[in-house]
Formats: sequence, structure tokens, C-alpha cells
Amino acid sequence: MKIITSTAEMTVWSKEFQAKGRTIALVPTMGFFHQGHLALMKQAADEADLVVVSLFVNPTQFGEGEDLSSYPRDFERDKELARGQGVDVLFCPEVADMYPGKGLTTVVVEQLTSGLCGASRPGHFDGVTTVVAKLFNVVLPQVAVFGQKDLQQLIVIKRMVLDLNFPIHIIAHPIVREEDGLALSSRNTYLSKYERQRALCLSQALCMAQQHIRQGGNPAQVLDLVHEKIASSSDVEIDYLVLIDDRTLGVCETIDEHAVLAMAVKVGKTRLIDNGWLLTRDK
Ligand code: PAF
Repeated sequence: MKIITSTAEMTVWSKEFQAKGRTIALVPTMGFFHQGHLALMKQAADEADLVVVSLFVNPTQFGEGEDLSSYPRDFERDKELARGQGVDVLFCPEVADMYPGKGLTTVVVEQLTSGLCGASRPGHFDGVTTVVAKLFNVVLPQVAVFGQKDLQQLIVIKRMVLDLNFPIHIIAHPIVREEDGLALSSRNTYLSKYERQRALCLSQALCMAQQHIRQGGNPAQVLDLVHEKIASSSDVEIDYLVLIDDRTLGVCETIDEHAVLAMAVKVGKTRLIDNGWLLTRDK
């Protein structure tokens, strides 16, 4: 596995292999790999000849008071995990290389970024779309793989790709969960043993909602039930809990194959997100 730290070298590498007719899949990450990241890398290997994993803790997507400085990092461990997945390039640029000087350009996807996580984290998605657009331009992949846990991010990026004509196929990977249902996240490392137990209320609420819908429940009842389930867990604070349409992120009034239960909940100081389709477990 090659480690590339310079944006210029990354582009040269990609162009060299593309000239030989090889396709490239990119997995953008902020590191501190878990099984979810490894599943994205595996899927990327199925989609293209070569896999590039970017590891960049992007400062512009963190708001004031968020966890940029404490975001978990373990480069040596990440390197070994990526190597074990057969990744071809681990691309880990410096902040000064990705953002030389004060950038005057930001990629903004409107509407889709105003609600849900966008409402609680103003500017977050502008940071995400800008860095992902930059990564696309530096790595020049034909395919990019994103996890469905960040469903809003996935939908926003798909829209950016459509609107800006990026010649890149976006692939979504289903949420990877612990055996007890907790959705994998690098931020799970912040949870104490007690908080980790409390965090299970998200996946449990999702299972309850899916079951309730199968038994003929309506959207309002489902939301009440889920709200009650999560609100009754101690040391847990709901940020949002909504039924949305996976195409528009707007509120869905009727349950069909596009209906997703999306949740953001603070467990102690850690903000966790989870989601799932109500008619099928994962899509
Ligand atoms: O999902 C993430 O880890 C980040 O938001 C991403 C897509 C790597 C952009 O920094």
C-alpha cells in the first residue's frame, strides 16, 4: 500500500493509472477506522480496479465547540487496517495542502442541508461538500463509496454530483452495526460503558418502529412510540427524530419504500445519529 501525503502527487498517481485504463474507487474518511470503514473499502474493491482511501480530518466541517481537536486519531492502526483490506493508496494530506491560504470558494447544496443535522450543525455540510468536491478533483475517482449512516450527507453528495456534473458513480453502503444493534461510528469511542448501554435506545427504537409499521401502525403513532422509547432512556437528549423521504429529506406523511426514520440523539456529551427504512431493514 502506498501512502501519499501530497495532493499533487495524488493526482499524478491517479492520472498515471487511468492512462493505463485502470478505474479508481475512492473511500473518503476521517480515519479511526472501524468495521464500517473496512466494509466501505471492501465494497470499493468490488467496484473498481484500484482503491484509494482518503484520511483527512476536515476542519471546515466542524463547528465552534465541536470535537475537531479531540476527534479520535490513530494513524498507525489505520494504516495497518487499510493495508489489511488491500487498499492501494492511503491518501492523507496536510491541512495546509488541502486548504492553501484562505479559500474563497465554498460548495453549497441548498435546501437539502437546512434541516436535520444541518439545523443543529450550521455550516457542517458546506464543509463536507467543499472537501468532498476537492477530494474528487484531486483523486479523480470513477466511483466513490459512502456509508448510509450519514444518510443526509449521502443524499447531499449525490445531489452535488448531479448538479455539478462530477463523472463519479456514488455508491451507498448499508449501516454496519455491533451485534447488539449499535451503529458503528468513530465517535462511539467517546461513550462510557454506561453511555454505550444508553445509546442502544436508537437502534432499539428503529426496530420498534419497523415492527410497528409491519403491524399496521401509522406514521404519527410510530413517531410517538419512538419518541417515548428514547425520551424514557435516562441521560439521553433528542436532537431530532423524524420520518423522512429518502429522496427529498422532507417529512413523509405516508409509509412507502422511501420512508426513513432518522434520529440524532445526545448521549452524555456525544451526539449520535442512526436511521433506517421502515419497510426494509437496509437498502
Ligand atoms: O463521513 C465522513 O467521514 C466525512 O464527512 C467525509 C465524507 C470524509 C468528509 O470529510
